[in-house]
Order: sequence, then structure tokens, then C-alpha cells
Amino acid sequence: MIEVMIDYIEELPEIKAIRKNHSEEAIGRYMEKYEFGTSKPILVKKINRQKYILIDGHHRLEAKKRLKNKKIDIKILDIGDKEVFDKAVEANQEHGVPYTKEEENEVLKTLIESGKTQQQIANIFHIGQSAIAMRIKRDSMLAKSLGDKINISTINEVLNGKKHEEVANIYGVSRSRVTQIWNDWKNEVIEQYESGTSKEEIVEQQRENKVNLTLESLNEFFEGDYNKLIKGDCLKEIPKLEDESVDCVIIDPPYGIEYQSNYRKEKYDYIQDDNKNTFELLDKSLKLVLNKMKKNSHIYVFTSWKVIEKVKPIIEKYFELKNCIVWNKNNWGMGDLKNNYAEKYELILFASKGKRPLYAETRPLNVIDCERADTEEHPTKKPLNLLKQLIINSTKPKELVLDYFAGSGSTLDASKESGRRWIGIEVK
Ligand SMILES: C[S@@+](CC[C@H](N)C(=O)[O-])C[C@H]1O[C@@H](n2cnc3c(N)ncnc32)[C@H](O)[C@@H]1O
Repeated sequence: MIEVMIDYIEELPEIKAIRKNHSEEAIGRYMEKYEFGTSKPILVKKINRQKYILIDGHHRLEAKKRLKNKKIDIKILDIGDKEVFDKAVEANQEHGVPYTKEEENEVLKTLIESGKTQQQIANIFHIGQSAIAMRIKRDSMLAKSLGDKINISTINEVLNGKKHEEVANIYGVSRSRVTQIWNDWKNEVIEQYESGTSKEEIVEQQRENKVNLTLESLNEFFEGDYNKLIKGDCLKEIPKLEDESVDCVIIDPPYGIEYQSNYRKEKYDYIQDDNKNTFELLDKSLKLVLNKMKKNSHIYVFTSWKVIEKVKPIIEKYFELKNCIVWNKNNWGMGDLKNNYAEKYELILFASKGKRPLYAETRPLNVIDCERADTEEHPTKKPLNLLKQLIINSTKPKELVLDYFAGSGSTLDASKESGRRWIGIEVK
């Protein structure tokens, strides 16, 4: 046992902060002990002649300080880095205010969560990084917290252009571990994208997780370009799409009946191209989209009994018309409120390019009951549940759905919610 200057003892602030809860009572007890005799020496690890790290004795040290004593008895522990944590906990078990494993975990977790690397934490404790690694490995919860942090730092380093080898050296892990972390993360991002999440959303989510992902670097991961709404005229935009890439087209073309609701006080603008040119527009667009659809694919075209005799032959020019689906909706009438029957259904022409099966578990019926969508946003907005049924019947997960009269984007939302890729085109 030797006496050293109190100033030579370094307390780890992180541990001190955690232990302050039960300190007052214990400090008082030690102050009494020191005034009327002695107390056991504090346990330290020697760094050099004027620097000792406190392993056990936070309350005794504080008691001494409050008594304005200049010196304190120490016992230097001859311990390797790897024993520091165990010794601190073990020594503390012997007296009234034990320093527990839980507290120690809390200290480490706080450091990890503040974004410190293993090496930085090791420096705080004046021990080697491998000692920290071992300590953390033993505790699965901690391993997870730190694991996640290392993953994020690793991904950020690679995104910044560092080689896997270099990153491995920084974090003291193998090169293959870095490659594995990177590939796992990249596959997760690709999976998300293929299941309908837009690039912008992926970037936002990753940034929330502290991954410094940019749209630019994300673009390098993917060959195709989808999950996006293109603003423009479909006749100009469809030709830019990849040939034979689309699995299912769902369109709700401008009606061709100068749609305007009599039900609402404020009337919507006439829908763009919603006049006799609409049939020409439909014809031209179908001709263009045919090429963009896979060899075996489906198309759904929303229409009305009022124009079906014009729409049908246009579809039949390019596709095999297979059915006319009735969407049976709840009625709150539009149109002539006094002198006519209320509209309770809409029609959806279903056609195919080549041969493609329906994927539904049970054979779908050509009458689908579904509540109307809230049309505040767009006067002819279609309900998600209806669109989802069409999408699930005609595509497998991750396949591509196109709606080039996207309107409010209901088909796009339904595709996303069904885990399908999507592209929308809308002129307005
Ligand atoms: C009947 S609405 C579609 C509504 C959509 N199904 C929904 O649920 O919101 C037709 C849409 O096609 C758009 N449109 C009209 N002509 C277009 C064109 N040449 N290219 C792209 N979009 C066009 C209109 O602006 C309108 O939003």
C-alpha cells in the first residue's frame, strides 16, 4: 500500500456519471471512516508515475476530496487490459455500493451510442482495443449496439470511397468482414428498391440511420430506374422507358366524356385531354406501350359504358381483350341528380400481351366490390384496395407496374404497398 497525490488519480467521467445516483450516502459514510481512522486503499491501474486510473473507490476518492486531503492510499493492481472491467466489478462487490455489470454495460452503451469507435472507447479506459472487443463480445446486447455502429461507420467509410482493406484496418476487423457488412447492407437497399420504395425515400431513411447515402451513390447500385413519377406527356415519356420491362399496365385514361361532377359546388377543371382526342391519345399510347411491356404481360383500362364501344376496338388493335371487369362501388350519385339512375359501377377492360397467368390463389371474379376512394385530391381517384387486387392478380412481388395517366398516383401507391416496382407518368 502506498500513498499518492489525489491529483494523480484519474477517474473515468463516464463511470462517475453513472454512479452519482447512490453516492451521497456512501460518500458520507467514507468521510466518517476517514475522520475516525482509515479505510481500505483504493484500487488503481498504473499508467505512469503521476497517473493512475481508478478501478475501485469512487466514493472513497470523493470523500477524501471533500475532506480536502491531498493524498490517498492506493493499491496498484497488476492487471492486464482484459481484466480491468472484471476487476472493477469484482472489487466493488465487496462493499456496500457495488458497481454492477449493468452499470458497466450502461457506461459502454452510452459511449457506443455517442458514436465512439472501439478504439476511441479503449483510449478512454486506457486499455487496448482488443480488450474492449472481448468485453463487448461477451455481452450480446452490447455486441449488437456496437455491431450496428460499426456497420454504419463501415458503410460510411466505403461510401466515402475508402477501400474495404483500409476500412478493415481502421476498425481492426478482417477485410472479409467489411465486405460482408457492405454486401448485406447493399442487398437490403436493393431489396427495398425492388419492393417499391423510391430512391428519395431510401436516401431519407438511411440518413435517419446516420448513413451518409446520396442519390448519386444510390444510382450506381441499380441498373433500372423505377419507383418514380415522371412529369410529362405520356406520348413523349413512354418511348424513353426500357423495352419489354413492364409486367402490368393499369391506366385510367381521360374519360372522353368531358367529365365534370354536378355534385360538387366548386367544379373541377376539365381533365386534361378529356375530349374527343382522348381516343387518339389512347390509341397512340397503347401502340407505344406495347413495346415496353414484357412478352407476357397484362393491361387494365378503366372505362365507362358511355364510351366502351369506342375503347374496345382500340385495345383489340394491340392486345387480346380477355374480360370486362365490373367495379361495383357504393353509390353517392354524380351526374344528373334528378332525372337519371345513379352510377353504381365502373368498367375495367382486361387484356393481355402474350400469355400470362393470373396469380390469385382463387380464381378472381369479374365483379369486384370496393368502396370508392376519397376524391378530394383528384376527381377520378381510384381506390387502393381495388388497384391492389388487380396488381396482385397480375404480378409477382418486385415486378413492374406502369400507370401513364397517373393522376393522384393511386396505382403507384397500390404497387408500393403490394411490394411491386412502379413507374407513373402524369402531365399535370
Ligand atoms: C382519369 S385521370 C386518372 C386518375 C387516376 N387513376 C387516379 O386514381 O388518381 C386521368 C389523368 O391523366 C392525365 N393525363 C391526361 N393526358 C395526359 C397525357 N397526355 N400524358 C400524361 N397524363 C395525362 C390527366 O391529367 C389526369 O390526371
